[in-house]
Amino acid sequence: MMTKNRVLIIGSGGREHALAWRMAQSSTVDTVFVAPGNAGTQQESGVENVVIDTTDFQAVIDFCHIQQVSLVVVGPEQPLVDGMVDALSAAEIPCFGPKAAAARLEGSKTFTKRFMQKNAIPTADYAEFSDLDKALKYLQSCEYPQVIKADGLAAGKGVVIVKDQQQGEAVATDMLSDNKFGEAGRRIVIEEFLHGEEASYIVISDGKTFIPMVTSQDHKARDDGDQGPNTGGMGAYSPAPVVTPEIEEKIIEQVIKPTLKGMAKEQPFVGFLYAGVMINQGEVKVLEFNVRMGDPETQPIMMRLKSDLDSLCLAAVNGELAEHSIQWDKRPALGVVMAAGGYPENYAKGAVIEGLPVSQTDVKVFHAGTAVSNEQVVTSGGRVLCVCALGDNLTEAQQKAYAGVQSITWQDVYYRTDIGHRALSR
Ligand code: AMP
Ligand code: GLY
Repeated sequence: MMTKNRVLIIGSGGREHALAWRMAQSSTVDTVFVAPGNAGTQQESGVENVVIDTTDFQAVIDFCHIQQVSLVVVGPEQPLVDGMVDALSAAEIPCFGPKAAAARLEGSKTFTKRFMQKNAIPTADYAEFSDLDKALKYLQSCEYPQVIKADGLAAGKGVVIVKDQQQGEAVATDMLSDNKFGEAGRRIVIEEFLHGEEASYIVISDGKTFIPMVTSQDHKARDDGDQGPNTGGMGAYSPAPVVTPEIEEKIIEQVIKPTLKGMAKEQPFVGFLYAGVMINQGEVKVLEFNVRMGDPETQPIMMRLKSDLDSLCLAAVNGELAEHSIQWDKRPALGVVMAAGGYPENYAKGAVIEGLPVSQTDVKVFHAGTAVSNEQVVTSGGRVLCVCALGDNLTEAQQKAYAGVQSITWQDVYYRTDIGHRALSR
């Protein structure tokens, strides 16, 4: 009899719910544990939430040994940057994701800018500073807007687009002297503002070979028409029509291949490599790398994935991706994030969510900031749910997703009403 995989997923967001849901459908998977998970993973069939202190790698290792976990998948960036894959691999537990030295592609903006320069990967021109006076002097000679980035992980708040010198000086001072970002702000990158349309290009890599995911695009701004403050993402869809076959070829040749080749000399990159790119007049430039799947891009991408996710992740860990291919549902998928009013700033928690579960064909509600309290599902974070749908075309996927959204409510619920507008206006 074939032994079945027992998988542990680290994280608690919509991305992790989507990964766990997809993983649990695999014929080769017996149980999916999620640490810590959310109300959605708690209620998902074949999925079990577990309480482990995931910052304590030894506790994770002990859990894996006791539960005979055969694969760990790390969802978010922080544990990757902190070396979770290094620790688990040293304990001979198959762990999918980049080691800390490779996770620097997300964990350090200065590492990444230098890496791109060294490997001739197209990106915005930049300068880096740890000295405030030098940064202020540089800002006098810039054309505006400019983009100022704190070096390290800053939970999505370390990037500020500054419209003039005055604002630039305030942000640089904030980051370099006021210690607002702690260690993350000890160095900053000041880079040229890029115009164009953003897309997310994600591949799975075993360090030598890679397989692309279907293309996707998220909506970072909070409000309709891409207005308002930047967020972790208010919705996403796949495919992204801005990534034409010609653009995809450019991303692969100019970004993905040189990145994986360059990393192979430092620390081979195993895991999901996410290139956030700006596309302008047929040219591609890298805005950022993430060393994990995107959230909410994962949700529509997992709706479309037909292959077994555990086999792909295990093949990547074992350096055997060359023997694999991925099958996708040809239909587009679209996901709308339902957030707590006030997100990304102050918002309430603990509101009772009405209207769950939603049972419509090809519609799936992924949870993010949710918890179970007194047997009710309540909000417990800024991004609460991501309602995803597959459709014969993007318009249909959008209609189905919004029909799902409209059947769910809680006090002060907030969502954008135009997810997919860029693709649909093409
Ligand atoms: P990052 O974490 O570096 O990708 O920055 C977060 C977001 O800021 C990106 O997704 C873009 O929307 C925006 N951004 C970052 N760098 C630039 C740039 N050079 N030009 C224009 N927008 C940028
Ligand atoms: N959706 C953008 C990210 O995951 O960073």
